[in-house]
Amino acid sequence: MCGIIGCIGRGGDTKETLLAGLKNLEYRGYDSAGIAFGGETVTVEKREGELENLRRQLETTEAFDGSLGIGHTRWSTHGPPSDRNSHPHMDEAGRVAVVHNGIIENYQALRDELRVEGVEFTSDTDSEVVPHLIARQLDAGKPPEEAFTAAVERLDGSYALAAVVEGEHAIFTARNDSPLVIGVDGDATFVASDVPAFLEYTRDVVYLENGEYAVLRPGNWTVFDGASPVEKVVKTVEWSPEQTGKSGYDHFMLKEIHEQPTALRQCLRGRVDEFGGRFSVDELDELERPDAVQFVACGTSYHAALYAAELLRDAGVPAQAYLASEYALGPAPITPDTLVVGVTQSGETADTLSALREASVRGARTLALTNVVGSTAARECDHALYIRAGPEIGVAATKTFSSQLVALNVLVERLTAATGVEQTRSLISALRELPEQVQQVLDDSKAADVVDEFGDGNAFFFIGRGLDFPVALEGALKFKEITYEHAEGFAAGELKHGPLALVTENTPVFAVVTGDDERAQKTIGNVKEVESRGAPVIAVTDGQSDVERYADAVLEIPRTTARTAAMLANVQLQLVAYHTAYELDRTIDKPRNLAKSVTVE
Ligand code: G6P
Repeated sequence: MCGIIGCIGRGGDTKETLLAGLKNLEYRGYDSAGIAFGGETVTVEKREGELENLRRQLETTEAFDGSLGIGHTRWSTHGPPSDRNSHPHMDEAGRVAVVHNGIIENYQALRDELRVEGVEFTSDTDSEVVPHLIARQLDAGKPPEEAFTAAVERLDGSYALAAVVEGEHAIFTARNDSPLVIGVDGDATFVASDVPAFLEYTRDVVYLENGEYAVLRPGNWTVFDGASPVEKVVKTVEWSPEQTGKSGYDHFMLKEIHEQPTALRQCLRGRVDEFGGRFSVDELDELERPDAVQFVACGTSYHAALYAAELLRDAGVPAQAYLASEYALGPAPITPDTLVVGVTQSGETADTLSALREASVRGARTLALTNVVGSTAARECDHALYIRAGPEIGVAATKTFSSQLVALNVLVERLTAATGVEQTRSLISALRELPEQVQQVLDDSKAADVVDEFGDGNAFFFIGRGLDFPVALEGALKFKEITYEHAEGFAAGELKHGPLALVTENTPVFAVVTGDDERAQKTIGNVKEVESRGAPVIAVTDGQSDVERYADAVLEIPRTTARTAAMLANVQLQLVAYHTAYELDRTIDKPRNLAKSVTVE
């Protein structure tokens, strides 16, 4: 995720304060960084890659006014990582510099409007419209503060913004759906996307709410909500600087599990045409309906692929998920109208790239579904769809898996729009409700209690059918990755064809049972089979079936549609894996022998 830091009142330490702030934000992941100094003049330095590149560049630059500035670490969502796409962005005359986190949904319309007025854009980003809009207002004679608010009023979408304007000893900020916090320390004032950025200077903070603006001037700060000032309470945070990279969580994995509601909102943002009852995804404008779809993927992404293939088959489109490492050397038959989708959060997994290249050589159209803008998969495929989960640092994929499932729903609907407006509307509303429901699971989960009671098993099995089957596989993979305990996922119906021989009173079985259709009932039959062999059963359920009657413990999820229930059940299993690994004192974020991105075949 992008990061913002700004400071005023640090005198000659401004540059070092901004660089330290950016360093503190590195944990969020980034692909470029930049700084703007404000005051009498506005000066920008920005560089692709490591913060060190920016620091080296700044060594050759004068400290300018030296009393105020804003900085940014960018994690690409629009346009690949590059110097020119890095923030801060400026207007044409170099009077205004802006840093932005979030996504401006109406940026294309604003860009078109500004182009007609003669503005030449220098980046591919959505963010660059902001300095041009502010400059327009300055040209119209508005004072800087009004120019800033008038420009922000034109924006739809999510934003945390900080801007500096030539001749003004001030930092202008605004927030909507993307966090922004002010830090106060006597004459010095800070603004940042999150507290760690300035924690070494102050723990006294003021959180901005959606729709609020703040202006920071030497020795004072004011917050207003458009027209009127807002009384804000200064709070003192208890964190120590060591904790902050993880925002107070013990591990990145837990932090990322908790980031899922935000990630899922971000994935859908600007992609839903509520009025028309359809998804509208710019990246997929050119994509024609295929005759068949093949998914290639590894690890967790393969489980997302299994889920998506099932959705497509349900909609009448022939679809199959393949392990990329198998597919690369023995691809399935392809026609020119076959679409091959590489599901890969990193966009760099060697096996998946090989499979996509093989498919392309054989004449298929290819699509990368990835989290990383400008990754190899995104560049090499005919199409790319971004899941927008933000950077994931824990090796075990969590929020990227959930975001993949949401993005795959969008892709499937885009490919099968024939299912009808009513169905699409109900899917849209289920996906809209999902972040709140994930939050509910996170708030109410009894996973830690279940781990207390059943966590000392000899082996752990996970079963499910239909869309709950990939969730069972993912639950087992997460569990083995970070606990080092033996865990396996099975299609519930396969238990009796072998795995049942392993079932004893020391092998807890996690049964994912959502809905109450024939599949659910059949899985309940399998639950009875393991129960009668003495295995403890933990049901992960929305309570629609009577599976609870046969279970020793229940992990509840809210009632919803089959597609989204599977995603909610997965969150419970993420927490089961996490709490077990925690109890066993494992190195959760960096499990032994595993890597986040596997770039060898
Ligand atoms: C590695 C990671 C897994 C991941 C897999 C595929 O094995 O440890 O968490 O699922 O690679 O990665 P990708 O980036 O292609 O989704």
